[in-house]
Amino acid sequence: MSAHEVVIETRNLTKVYRDFWGRPKVQALKALDLKVYRGEIFGLLGPNGSGKTTTIKLLLGLLFPTEGESLIFGEPTTNVAKNERIGYLPEESYLYKFLNAEETLEFYGKLFKIAPQERRRRVDQLIERVGLKAARKRQLREYSKGMQRRIGLAQALINDPELILLDEPTSGLDPIGTAEIKDTIRNLRAEGKTIVLSGHLLADMQDICDRIAILHRGELREIGKVSELLTVQDITQFKIRNLPEEGKEAIREVLARFPDASLEAIDHPTTTLEELFLRIVRESEARPGLRKIGEEQEAAAQAARPVLAGVPSDNGGEAARN
Ligand SMILES: Nc1ncnc2c1ncn2[C@@H]1O[C@H](COP(=O)(O)OP(=O)(O)OP(=O)(O)O)[C@@H](O)[C@H]1O
Ligand SMILES: [Mg+2]
Repeated sequence: MSAHEVVIETRNLTKVYRDFWGRPKVQALKALDLKVYRGEIFGLLGPNGSGKTTTIKLLLGLLFPTEGESLIFGEPTTNVAKNERIGYLPEESYLYKFLNAEETLEFYGKLFKIAPQERRRRVDQLIERVGLKAARKRQLREYSKGMQRRIGLAQALINDPELILLDEPTSGLDPIGTAEIKDTIRNLRAEGKTIVLSGHLLADMQDICDRIAILHRGELREIGKVSELLTVQDITQFKIRNLPEEGKEAIREVLARFPDASLEAIDHPTTTLEELFLRIVRESEARPGLRKIGEEQEAAAQAARPVLAGVPSDNGGEAARN
């Protein structure tokens, strides 16, 4: 397995949607050239209508290009044999509403001619992997949007594909579900899979993608490693623990020797809202019933503590023991 083995290549890939009379209506994709390498997570980023879904459908051979070509595993996308090595999660759910999770995966497993014993093993493993164990016997018509995304992802993985195309895998998912799907995607990469996903939530894409392409109105606007694209080259950042006030003064004095350098900020790092939210929910799951009380109530509780001694409180008796 070569680190730079090309899994997807597009050359001048162009799509013009035509109207009923065959007249050009929308130029959805303009002369796209890109390569995706084995083992990477590649993100297609762009606002609504920028051509992400069109690109994915062209890669799968579900749409024919107006111009140009795309190759998957070195073969033209029109070659259907490649589909056995690809998993696809479409933007919209297309699964049968009257089947339950187990039946859905069984059905797709049969389509791929997976032997019964292996099929059952994969169905169980995938249901577990996408967190639908409790809902495995429920019909998909009863599923919430996030649950539909999860079963869709499981379906995309039933054939143990080498290349996985996910069109907005986290749409409709809450932050916990999003974090779980992101973990699943990272695990797939660790197993050596190549993943292409689309999305427009910047924080999620930043978090998970090795490289991204930014599309705007069907044109490729930027492509590269996320780490490089996000590095602000002309800013140097120091992170220092336990720096006393004199230390800050000394740094300012040193900087004064470089007239072109301007001190942009000396501050404390912040976490993201996403990290805070996830931490709180996870802590709450680990220690249920431990309610956070507002500062004022906390002060009141402190004052009232001797009176409350011996009375069981709703945080498992913590206050009573203190
Ligand atoms: N079947 C179609 N017929 C005509 N125009 C289409 C068709 N499908 C997509 N388009 C147009 O092509 C352009 C790109 O659409 P596409 O669905 O690829 O965007 P997208 O980046 O996936 O957007 P979103 O974030 O909303 O999913 C849009 O202008 C859209 O209106
Ligand atoms: Mg789309």
